Amino acid sequence: MGGEHSPEILGILVLQSPVPVMLNFRHRIVLVESIPERTTFSDSSVPNPSTFSTWMNLLGTVTRGLDIASFYWTMTNEDTRTHEPSAIQGEQILEELLQLSQHGITVRIAVSCPLAKLPLNDLQALEWSGAVVHTVDMPRLTAGALHTKFWLVDGTHLYVGSANMDWRSLTQVKELSAAVYNCSCLAKDLGNIFEAYWALGIPGASIPVPWLANYSTTFNMEMPSELKHNDTDAAVYSSSPPALCAAGWTQGLGTLLSVINAAEDFVDVTVMSYLPTTEFSHPQRFWPAIDNWLRKAVFERQVKVWLLTDCWQHSQVTMFPFLKSLAAVANNRTRYSMEVWLFMVPVSAVQAQIPYAWVNCNKCMVTEKAAYIGECGVGGPPPR
Ligand SMILES: *[C@@H]1O[C@H](CO)[C@@H](O)[C@H](O)[C@H]1NC(C)=O
Ligand SMILES: *[C@@H]1O[C@H](CO)[C@@H](O)[C@H](O)[C@H]1NC(C)=O
Ligand SMILES: *[C@@H]1O[C@H](CO)[C@@H](O)[C@H](O)[C@H]1NC(C)=O
Ligand SMILES: *[C@@H]1O[C@H](CO)[C@@H](O)[C@H](O)[C@H]1NC(C)=O
Repeated sequence: MGGEHSPEILGILVLQSPVPVMLNFRHRIVLVESIPERTTFSDSSVPNPSTFSTWMNLLGTVTRGLDIASFYWTMTNEDTRTHEPSAIQGEQILEELLQLSQHGITVRIAVSCPLAKLPLNDLQALEWSGAVVHTVDMPRLTAGALHTKFWLVDGTHLYVGSANMDWRSLTQVKELSAAVYNCSCLAKDLGNIFEAYWALGIPGASIPVPWLANYSTTFNMEMPSELKHNDTDAAVYSSSPPALCAAGWTQGLGTLLSVINAAEDFVDVTVMSYLPTTEFSHPQRFWPAIDNWLRKAVFERQVKVWLLTDCWQHSQVTMFPFLKSLAAVANNRTRYSMEVWLFMVPVSAVQAQIPYAWVNCNKCMVTEKAAYIGECGVGGPPPR
């Protein structure tokens, strides 16, 4: 969790107590999950629709246009040279995507500048099928990455969350996302973010200062949009990192800190890795903004903090002492409650051969007032 100027902090926030704005009962938000194969939870846990079924539904719904913002594409298991039966869901999604252009549907894909070792087969196949792909050179533009994962369907429905365009995100990795149906106002908002990526994906593009007024939003921390979650009124806005914020947008870090700061009872956080530092910059920098606010919530308001992060083969060694330091805040005499748990997906020898699988990729935060579903889970680059 981290990265002050990182484009990775793009998230969607659902608040329990809505500010009265225009009410539209057709809006519907649904939580979507991927649970790794053979991982089972207790009977009392609430099953949510799968990422696969949600993507298939959206593909069945689209009539005019599909915009996808993505980090990288590995929808078949060619990248791992394994023959995993569980790759079939990813392959099926790709097959469906390849059909869309023939049916007159406009398919636009914004993707992060490829890492040298990642394959380009899927993106090439999509281009051959008629989709338009823009590669966004975030390392040059913001020293970050386009870590966003969202779908926009016909300017009406949207999907946003942790799942990459990766077959593992459907069957091997624990993911959490939200699908919002029949919500053209929020889709318009996310559409503006997509248009910003699209513009930045033109070769030689630079970040406009300021962004043109048509990239702005009216939904933000002060004035969220309303919708229904399971027949409960809720209010929603999305946020983005500073370099990508046109007028009206709430900045990603501000959103995270405001959710923590508003909590009076509990803050539950789940992230793939947790470091009060930048993670991918060289040199790494100390970046304790979020860590400080969690400690402050415990110390000043006796908020109960529960952090669930991952322990897997790519966890940074430096993470563990920082986690111990956070857990050390808990104390029976002061009654400070700070629980730090590590999540390990059980892996068999065969499964262990799949690289970058078997991990909890969720990036979300729940308090007694709000739910934040994000795409930032890992440290980002330092501020420039
Ligand atoms: C969107 O709203 C229409 C009209 O109310 C309804 O028929 C349709 O089922 C809704 N779609 C979804 C995905 O909820
Ligand atoms: C804003 O206007 C410019 C210039 O007309 C256009 O290129 C861009 O796509 C527009 N952006 C959005 C989000 O509509
Ligand atoms: C949705 O609402 C029903 C009825 O109030 C409740 O039983 C159920 O637990 C809720 N589901 C979720 C996911 O909140
Ligand atoms: C705090 O109290 C609980 C329950 O009484 C006990 O299990 C735990 O060991 C105590 N922790 C410390 C650090 O004393």
